[in-house]
Amino acid sequence: MSESFEQLNKYQVDSLHETSEAATPEALDAVHLKYLGRKEGLLTQLLQTLPSLPPDQRKELGRKANEAKRALESALAEKKQSLESARLTKTLSETAEDLTLPGTPLVRGGLHPLTKVEEDIVAVFQRLGFNVAEGPEVETDDNNFTALNHPPDHPARDSHDTFYLKSHKDAAGAPLLLRTHTSPVQIRYMKTHKPPLYIVAPGRVFRHEAVDATHSFVFHQVEGLAVDEGISLADLKGALTLFAREMFGGSAEVRFRPSYFPFVEPGIEVDISCAFCSGKGCRVCKNTGWVEMLGAGLVHPNVLRGVGLDPGKFSGYAFGIGVERVAMFKYGVDDMRLFYENDVRFLRQFR
Ligand code: PHE
Repeated sequence: MSESFEQLNKYQVDSLHETSEAATPEALDAVHLKYLGRKEGLLTQLLQTLPSLPPDQRKELGRKANEAKRALESALAEKKQSLESARLTKTLSETAEDLTLPGTPLVRGGLHPLTKVEEDIVAVFQRLGFNVAEGPEVETDDNNFTALNHPPDHPARDSHDTFYLKSHKDAAGAPLLLRTHTSPVQIRYMKTHKPPLYIVAPGRVFRHEAVDATHSFVFHQVEGLAVDEGISLADLKGALTLFAREMFGGSAEVRFRPSYFPFVEPGIEVDISCAFCSGKGCRVCKNTGWVEMLGAGLVHPNVLRGVGLDPGKFSGYAFGIGVERVAMFKYGVDDMRLFYENDVRFLRQFR
C-alpha cells in the first residue's frame, strides 16, 4: 500500500520543516499536537491504521513511522531548547541590569565633628574615672556667677556678655540667664554630692558676642572638676597632659601660664604644644610653638565654703575646655563658622 508510505513521507518532511520554521515555543507545541497528538495527531492516526495492513507492509511502515516519530520528537526538543535560550537572551538584554556596573552608594549620616570631639574629650576623662554630669542651659545668676565667686558688681561678670531672660526670674527675683560657661555644673554637683568628686560636664554655652572666625554666640565646653583630699596642681597637670596626648598625640606637652578666673586660685591658662609643627613654630601656633587651649585652676576656697565643704580638708581642681577650639586645632580648621553652617561638603570630611 504505497499510499500510506507516501503519506508517511509527506508527514515526515512537513513536520520537520514546520519544526524548523516554528518561531515560538507555542508554535512548536502546535506542531507537536498536529503530528503526535494522542488522538488527532497525524502520525498517531497513521500508526493506528497498521493493524489493518497486510503483515509485510505493516512491519515496514511501523518501523518507518516509529523512526519518523522519534526524529520529530528529537527535532522538537532541540528546537524548543534553542527557542527558549533565544527568548531568555532577548529578555535579559532588554530588561536586565548590567550586573557589572558599580552600585549606587548608600548615603549615610555621621556624627557632627563637634559632637565627635566632645565625645572624645569626655571619653578620655571617663577612662581616668570621671563621671559625666550635666546642667541646664538656662541658669540662675547665683549658679552662673555668685556661687562661682563673682559677687554682684564684680567686673568679671561684664566679660561674659550675658544673655538675660528678662521676664523669667529665680526665687530671689534675679533674672534667669543663658549660662555663659559650664562652670555652674560644678556648683550643682558639689551641692548634691559628697567628695571624692570627679566629673566632666559637656554642654552648650552662650555669650552675646559678634560672630567671626574664632567667636560665636553659642559654643561648647567640657567642664572638669575634681574635689578630694590633697588635690594639687600636679594632679591637674597630670590629667591635662594625659588629655593632650590622647587628643593630639603621644608627644604633646602642656604649659601652665598664670591667669585669672574668680572661682579658682591660682587661675591658669593652659597651652598645648602645637601638633602641626611639634613646637617648632608655624602659622597655626603663630610661630610660638604653643596653642592656648583651656582655662583651669584650683577651686577657690570661697567656692568650696559656699557649697558647704571645708577648704581645710578638701581641695580640688577645675578646668573648662573649649570644644570648638580643640576641634579647630585637631582638624586644622581655621574658621569656626564652618562648624555651624552645616554644609555637607564640609561635614562629610569627618565621617
Ligand atoms: N569657665 C571658664 C570660662 O568659660 C573656664 C574655666 C573653667 C576656668 C574652670 C577655670 C576653671 O572661661
